[in-house]
Amino acid sequence: MSKLILFILWAVIRAYAATPKQCFENMFPFGVASAVFQTEGAWNMSGKGESIWDRYTHNHPELVFDHTNADVATDSYHKYRDDVRNVKKLGVTFYRFSIAWSRILPTGLINEINEEGLKYYHELIDELLKAGIYPVVTMYHWDLPQSLQDLGGWTNPIIVDYFVDYARLLFQNFGIKVSHWLTFNEPRSFCHDGYGGYNAPGSRSSGLEDYLCGHNVLRAHAMTFRMYEREFSHLKAYVGIALDMVWLEPATTSADDQKAAETARQFTFGWFGHPILSEEGDYPQVMREVIDRNSIHQGFFRSRLPTFTPEEVAMIKKSYHFLGLNHYTTKLVTKGSGNISNKPSYEDDMGVKMSQKPTWPKTNATWINVVPWGFRKTLKWIKNSFNNPPVFITENGAPFEAGLQDVKRVNYIEAYLRSLHDAIYKDGCRVMAYTYWSLMDNYEWMWGYSERFGLFEVDYKSSNLTRSARLSAAFYSTVARTKCIPDNFNYYNYYIIN
Ligand SMILES: *[C@@H]1O[C@H](CO)[C@@H](O)[C@H](O)[C@H]1NC(C)=O
Ligand SMILES: *[C@@H]1O[C@H](CO)[C@@H](O)[C@H](O)[C@H]1NC(C)=O
Ligand SMILES: *[C@@H]1O[C@H](CO)[C@@H](O)[C@H](O)[C@H]1NC(C)=O
Ligand SMILES: *[C@@H]1O[C@H](CO)[C@@H](O)[C@H](O)[C@H]1NC(C)=O
Repeated sequence: MSKLILFILWAVIRAYAATPKQCFENMFPFGVASAVFQTEGAWNMSGKGESIWDRYTHNHPELVFDHTNADVATDSYHKYRDDVRNVKKLGVTFYRFSIAWSRILPTGLINEINEEGLKYYHELIDELLKAGIYPVVTMYHWDLPQSLQDLGGWTNPIIVDYFVDYARLLFQNFGIKVSHWLTFNEPRSFCHDGYGGYNAPGSRSSGLEDYLCGHNVLRAHAMTFRMYEREFSHLKAYVGIALDMVWLEPATTSADDQKAAETARQFTFGWFGHPILSEEGDYPQVMREVIDRNSIHQGFFRSRLPTFTPEEVAMIKKSYHFLGLNHYTTKLVTKGSGNISNKPSYEDDMGVKMSQKPTWPKTNATWINVVPWGFRKTLKWIKNSFNNPPVFITENGAPFEAGLQDVKRVNYIEAYLRSLHDAIYKDGCRVMAYTYWSLMDNYEWMWGYSERFGLFEVDYKSSNLTRSARLSAAFYSTVARTKCIPDNFNYYNYYIIN
C-alpha cells in the first residue's frame, strides 16, 4: 500500500475514534519563520553591503558562544528553493522571512540600488507564490547596513528618513506580491541588546542609547505606516510591527510584586506597544515618570528618555493594521532594591528582579523555560490593556538538543498551542495567525549554531547543509493541515513528511 493510502486510512480512523479535539477555525493560518542574517549567508556576494552583524561577528568571535559567524549560515541565498520546498512539505499557509537592507541598498542609502538584490527577493517571493505560500515580509530584522551605523545607526534621527526611503522601495518593488508587512522585528531586543548590551553593534550604553534607538524606531515605523497609507493603500496590504513579550508573572501575591510585574511589562512590551496601541499614545506613564526622576537624580538636566511632540504622538498612535507578537517564555518578577547608581541603566530604571522557577522545564536556551500558561496570560493582558487588537503570532518556539526525534519540541508546540487555543476560544483574544520559529536550525545570534530551533534539522557538517524533517515537522504539519491539535499524535506521520 502506498504511504498516501495508509495516511488517508489513518486519518479516517483517527477522525472516527475522535475524543473532543481542540481545533482552530477552518481558515486559521499557520506558518513558519526565519530571518535573513540567521539563514541567508552570501554576506559579501552579488553586491551586498556589510551589515552590523557581519562586522560585529567578524570582529568579535570571542563574544559568540561557539566563535562562529553567519558568512554561510544555512546558505539560503543559494538554497532558497530547498527552503520553499520544505515549507510546502509542511502544508503551512505562509512563510515569514526578512529582507536584508544591505543586499538591496549596500550603503543603506537610496542613491545606490543593487539590482541583483532586488532580483533575488523577487525570485524567492515568486517561488513561494508558485508553491501557494503567502510571503510575510519583515523589513528589518536587526541587520543594519554598517555604513548607517557609522553615522550613529538608530541613535541618529536622520536614519528615520533613510528607513522610509528603503521601505518605499520595498513597497514599490514587492507591494503587489506581499499582503503582510512587518516594519521591525523586536525593537526592544535590538535597541536594548544592541545599543545597551552585547548584541551588534555592541554600544553597551544602557539607559541612554537604547532609548534613543527606540525613539527613532518608533518614528521610523509610524512614518513608514503613514507613507504606506498615503502612497500605497491601493495595494490593500496589512502593515504591522513585531514586538516581543516574555510573560512577566509576579513572584508572590504581594502588592509590591504585582506592581513590579506591571512596571516590567510596561518597560518591555509597553515601551513600543503603548505609543502604538493605546488610546492616549506616547510612552507608558511609568516609564516617563521613573526615567525622568532617575535622570534628574543622576545629575542630568533633562530626561534620558526623549520626548515626542504632540504631532509625533498622534502620528505613532494607531500606526498599525495588526500587532505581530513574538512570545517564547515566562519569568517571575519581584520588586528591586530601589538603588540607583549614577550610571544610566535600563535595568535600574525598570527596577525589578527577574527569575525563573527551578521546576519549569528547561530548553537549550538559558532564557527559555517551558511555561505554556504564560502565552495565554500574555494574550489576555494585551487584550485588556489595548482594547483587543488583532494579533499575529509572528514567533513562538524553543531550542532543544540536535536529533530528529525531538519529542520535547513536539511537547512544547502542543502545550503552547493549547494555551493559544484557550486565549482565543475562552478569553476572546483576537488572534489572526500563528508562526513557529523556526523553519530550520540557523544562526542564533550570540549563541551561534549551538541553539537549534528548527522543525528541520540542518547538518552543518554536510557539504550541502542537508535539511531533514524532525518529528516536530510532522506534528506541526498535522496541525497546519487539519487545524486541530492532535490528541494522540501518530508518529507514523514522521515518515510521510520525510
Ligand atoms: C567573502 O567573504 C569570504 C569569507 O566569508 C572571503 O573568503 C571572500 O574572499 C570574500 N569575497 C569577496 C569578494 O570579498
Ligand atoms: C543599596 O545601596 C546601599 C548603598 O550603596 C547598600 O548599602 C545596600 O546594600 C543596597 N541595597 C540593596 C538591596 O542592594
Ligand atoms: C545547548 O546545546 C549546546 C550544544 O549541545 C551546549 O553546548 C549548550 O551548553 C546548551 N545550552 C544549554 C543552556 O542547555
Ligand atoms: C545533499 O542533500 C541531499 C538532500 O538534501 C542528500 O540526499 C545528499 O546526500 C546530500 N549530498 C551530500 C554530498 O551531502
